[in-house]
Amino acid sequence: MPVPDSFADRLSIARKKQMPNHVAIIMDGNGRWARQRNLPRVAGHHEGMKTIRKITRFANELGVNVLTLYAFSTENWKRPRVEVDFLMKLPGKFLTAYLPELIEENIRVEMIGHFEALPEHTQHAIEKAMKATEQNDGLVLNFAMNYGSRLELVNVVKQICELAMTQQIDLADVNEALVESCLMTSHLPEPDLLIRTSGEVRLSNFMLWQLAYAELAFTDVYWPDYDEECLLEAIEDFQLRNRRFGSLCEEEDALKKQRMK
Ligand code: IPE
Ligand code: IPE
Ligand code: MG
Repeated sequence: MPVPDSFADRLSIARKKQMPNHVAIIMDGNGRWARQRNLPRVAGHHEGMKTIRKITRFANELGVNVLTLYAFSTENWKRPRVEVDFLMKLPGKFLTAYLPELIEENIRVEMIGHFEALPEHTQHAIEKAMKATEQNDGLVLNFAMNYGSRLELVNVVKQICELAMTQQIDLADVNEALVESCLMTSHLPEPDLLIRTSGEVRLSNFMLWQLAYAELAFTDVYWPDYDEECLLEAIEDFQLRNRRFGSLCEEEDALKKQRMK
């Protein structure tokens, strides 16, 4: 029987191949993780925070450029008040505990989502982290907080209507590039790899435009149990995919080689 490669071997092989530039994760399963242990749901969110730290460090080490983490959706306000309050305190808790090491590791904190609707203390925590890390040029740790793709797209439509109504653009100027420039992610590359934990196989209003050509990876592991090995596995799998973007890349390459003979 072949001896399984060690983690270190697998890591060094993966590093030599194409890394996803932007990894986006729907961190799901905190509540079920807690229920499995007869703990309150918020205990799952607390544990999930440690996973964020672990995965951020590892993604940075791997040379991933952007890590977007779906932390709170525009639909999550429908949850019980105590849970929402707890989730709103998490950025503060996370950043108080880990901001010094994020700074040291050259990580830049950013956020997408409806910022103004967050409680003030949440806004302050995020703003403080963004300010303290704005000069960093390593991994971009992008939190999707109070983010919803449909709301984002409605805002894109509004921005474009405004440009048209004020005669700054014509109908003919409306194209994909213009839409992209109005998205909250306009300054970021689009995700190459989307991971969702906890066995759910849906997007739950996450980056609907941006994920058009992302490779999708679903795992049954609950977010608090997700670790470096899980991410490495997702990346190894990603590296085996043949991304065609609608063309026939592989076949075209083969044809080119044949013609060159
Ligand atoms: C993900 O875990 C965290 C958020 C959505 C904020 P959940 O809280 O959705 O956990 P489950 O899906 O109920 O297990
Ligand atoms: C998606 O998870 C939102 C986040 C991970 C922040 P949910 O747990 O809210 O999604 P649904 O309700 O199962 O679709
Ligand atoms: Mg969930």
